[in-house]
Amino acid sequence: MKILSIETSCDETSMAVCEIVENNESKTMELFYHGVHSQINIHKEFGGVFPNVARREHQENSIPMLLQALASYPHHIPCQVTDSQQARIRDMLAREERLFLHLEDHVMRRAMRPDLDIICVTNGPGLEPALWVGVHLAQALGILWNIPVIPVNHMDGHILSTLIDPTLATIPYNQKIPLASLDYPTLSLLISGGHTELVSSTESGMYTKLGKTRDDAVGEAFDKVARLLDLPYPGGPEVSRLAREYTHTLPRPEFPRPMIHSDDYDFSFSGLKTAVLYHIKTYTRPLTMEDKQGIAYAFEEAVTDVLVHKTKKALDYTQAQTLIVAGGVSANKKIISALDAMCSAHYPTCTLRIPHRTLTGDNALMIALAGYMTYTKSPHASFEDIRALGRLSL
Ligand code: KG4
Ligand code: ZN
Repeated sequence: MKILSIETSCDETSMAVCEIVENNESKTMELFYHGVHSQINIHKEFGGVFPNVARREHQENSIPMLLQALASYPHHIPCQVTDSQQARIRDMLAREERLFLHLEDHVMRRAMRPDLDIICVTNGPGLEPALWVGVHLAQALGILWNIPVIPVNHMDGHILSTLIDPTLATIPYNQKIPLASLDYPTLSLLISGGHTELVSSTESGMYTKLGKTRDDAVGEAFDKVARLLDLPYPGGPEVSRLAREYTHTLPRPEFPRPMIHSDDYDFSFSGLKTAVLYHIKTYTRPLTMEDKQGIAYAFEEAVTDVLVHKTKKALDYTQAQTLIVAGGVSANKKIISALDAMCSAHYPTCTLRIPHRTLTGDNALMIALAGYMTYTKSPHASFEDIRALGRLSL
C-alpha cells in the first residue's frame, strides 16, 4: 500500500511517502520521502508553542514540503482535475486561503498525480488550529487524487513508530526494510510534551488506558524545569545534557517522587516542578553551573524513578510481552536505560521497543505506520467529515 502521511499537530510540519507491503504476516516498508520541518526557532522566542503561530507556519511550509515529497516519489500517473473537484477543494479550503492558492498554483495544474493508495493525517490530539492545516490539506488532496483519507491518532503514531528497527544507523530511502510485529499483550508508556500515559493493548489498534498524568506531562515538567534553570525551549534535551555533566562528588538536592506508591497507574509532575522551584529559592546567590547540574540530575532521577516504578506495576498487572516507550521524552537515555534494566531484571521475556532516534519526536512516518494499521484493519473512509480533535484520546 502506497501512502502519503501528514503530521501538523504541534510545532513540526512533517510528511512522508512510503510503501508498506505485507507477505505471510511479515511486513516491509520502503521509504521514498520523509521531511520534518521544525518550528522550534520561531517558538523559542516565546518559550512555548503558540497555536496560531504554529498554524501559520504549517500553512507556509506544507506546500513546499509536499512538492519535495512528490519530486522524490518515482510513480506518477496522468490525471485531470474536473471543475467539480476544483469547486469541492475550494469549499474545503475556504478557511485556508493561502493553502488553496499554493495548491492551485503548484499541484492542481499538474496533469500527473502520484500513484498512491491512501493519505494518512493526524487529526488529534494536538493544537486544533495546527491540526486543521494538515486535515484540510489531506482532504483536498484526497479529492484531487480520488483516494481515501485516514484520520490517525497522534499517540497511536508514537506507539507504532517503534515498528522500525531502532538499531539502524539511518532509515534508508528506496530500500525495503522489515517492520517488527508486536507480541501482545503490549504495554505502552507514552511520554511527550503533552502526554504521560500507560496504555495496554491485547490486539492491534485496541487500547485501554491504565493511567495518565493528573497535571503536567513529563516533557512539560522537563520544559518548565529548564525555564527555571534559564535553559532554552524545548528544555528536555537541555536538562538531560546538564544532568549528564553532574559530578557525583558534589552535593545535590533530593526531590520528591510524587505518587510513586499510589494505588493506581496515574502520575503527577507539577509538585516535582514546584519542589525544584522552592529549592532554587533557597539560594541567596545566583546558581552556578554546578548547582544547575545537581538540580537537573536530581530532577531527572526523580522522574526516572517514578516512571520505572509505575511501569513495573503496570507490567505486573498486564503481563505484557512487549513494553513500548515512545513520545518525545523517549529520546532521554537515562529514562530508557533505567526502564531497560528494570525490564531485563524482572520480565526477561518482555521485549522493550523504542523508536529509532530520528523518530522520537513528532514525524509523519509514524503516522503512515499507524494509518496503515488502522486502514488494513477496517478499510473505510468518510474523509469529508474528518475533524481535528485537540483532545482526541486513544
Ligand atoms: O512527542 P513530542 O516531540 O511532542 C509532543 O507531542 O509533545 O515531545 C516533545 C517533548 C518536549 O517536552 C521535550 O522537552 C521532550 O519531549 N524531550 C525530552 C528529551 N527530548 C525531548 N525530554 C527529556 N529528555 C530528552 N532527551
Ligand atoms: Zn508527539
